[in-house]
Amino acid sequence: MPYAENPFLSRGLASTTLHPLGLEVDRAEGPWLILKNGTRLFDAISGIGVSNFGHGHPGIQAELQRQLDRHLHAMVYGEFLQEAQTRASALLRASLPESLDGVYFLNSGAEAIDAALKLAKRVTGRRRLFAVTGGYHGNTHGALSVSSNELRKAPFRPLLPEVEFVTWNDLADLKRVDETVACVVAETVQGDAGIRIPDRAWLQALRDRCTKSGVLLVLDEIQCGMGRTGKPWAFEHFGVTPDVLCMGKALGGGMPIGALAASTDLLGQFAHHPSLGHITTFGGHPMACAGAVGALTALHELDFSELERHCSVWHKALEEHPAVERVRRIGAFFAVELESAEAVQKAVDVGLASQDELGVLLFWFLSVPNAFRLAPPLVATEQEMAQGLALILSALDDITDLPRQ
Ligand SMILES: Cc1ncc(COP(=O)(O)O)c(C=O)c1O
Repeated sequence: MPYAENPFLSRGLASTTLHPLGLEVDRAEGPWLILKNGTRLFDAISGIGVSNFGHGHPGIQAELQRQLDRHLHAMVYGEFLQEAQTRASALLRASLPESLDGVYFLNSGAEAIDAALKLAKRVTGRRRLFAVTGGYHGNTHGALSVSSNELRKAPFRPLLPEVEFVTWNDLADLKRVDETVACVVAETVQGDAGIRIPDRAWLQALRDRCTKSGVLLVLDEIQCGMGRTGKPWAFEHFGVTPDVLCMGKALGGGMPIGALAASTDLLGQFAHHPSLGHITTFGGHPMACAGAVGALTALHELDFSELERHCSVWHKALEEHPAVERVRRIGAFFAVELESAEAVQKAVDVGLASQDELGVLLFWFLSVPNAFRLAPPLVATEQEMAQGLALILSALDDITDLPRQ
């Protein structure tokens, strides 16, 4: 589509894609997005890992309504005590290991990554930042610097200096993590790289190496946290605990949020040399924190064995479909590989084309052209999951006649 025909432009909105879906949302309920033309789309991606508890979750709505009736922004973060922040922190800490006993709220995932990089430099007094090949951490200068996709970085250089990458899942490469390094930033399960699940041994060796060298291990669970992988936090699968955990997306229950969890000892170092070492006007916004209270309450109530049962049904049916080459999955986090990028494009298009006013929203990865992502709401019922799966399989049926590349 030529940029001039982008439907955002005629509405006075900038757009950073030449290919927006351009669908007009009217409302959303449970796993369904209801468009202005009346089509009901099964939201098989949860807004890229945000609506983990579906749309219009009653507990989240109630917390938001309660906060709306009390107050909105009262003061920049860190001056006033606000109940929504305190409750969100208590619920979050109840889901985390004891060592992560402090929480700092921000506005977005990328901002949480930037703050974690600053904290690592401040705490260690070191400047070298390590990240992992295939990682995606966001689009601010800091988060982009530690992201791996060079195509997306090159036009924006110079980015942060002294950033290096260790090879994902490569035990031998970890020897480069030494006493000169401030932190290693890693997605526990890589999302944009196509749901890449590391070996337990590699993540544990990374943890050991960081501990031995006094390097902070920063795990990015902005996308893979909040129940997405079948446990509250993805690191629980691997027997490791990070020094700093970055969160965002589903944490706000649909409200914009980012957060760091670390020991209060580490986080406290932002309070001196200089004081106010990190500040934010809207971080910890009471509406975002009220959303987090609702979302975290829903997380504590999740039935993970039922979720696994639902998702293994999807996994098996997808794997058996002739259009599917491979499925990678952990919990409700799927990458479905097809034979080509064209096949993925067709599946996305066919999914959106309404059949009796029903469709399904599938979506690409930025870095894996021949796969699409699935991240259904974690609270969808058996019947809703069956409806979603039928729509996905029917979109795949339509592409099986593609010629092989
Ligand atoms: C793993 C990961 N980290 C960081 C981010 C950046 O979060 P945000 O878009 O809220 O800045 C994303 C966003 O997709 C992500 O998937």
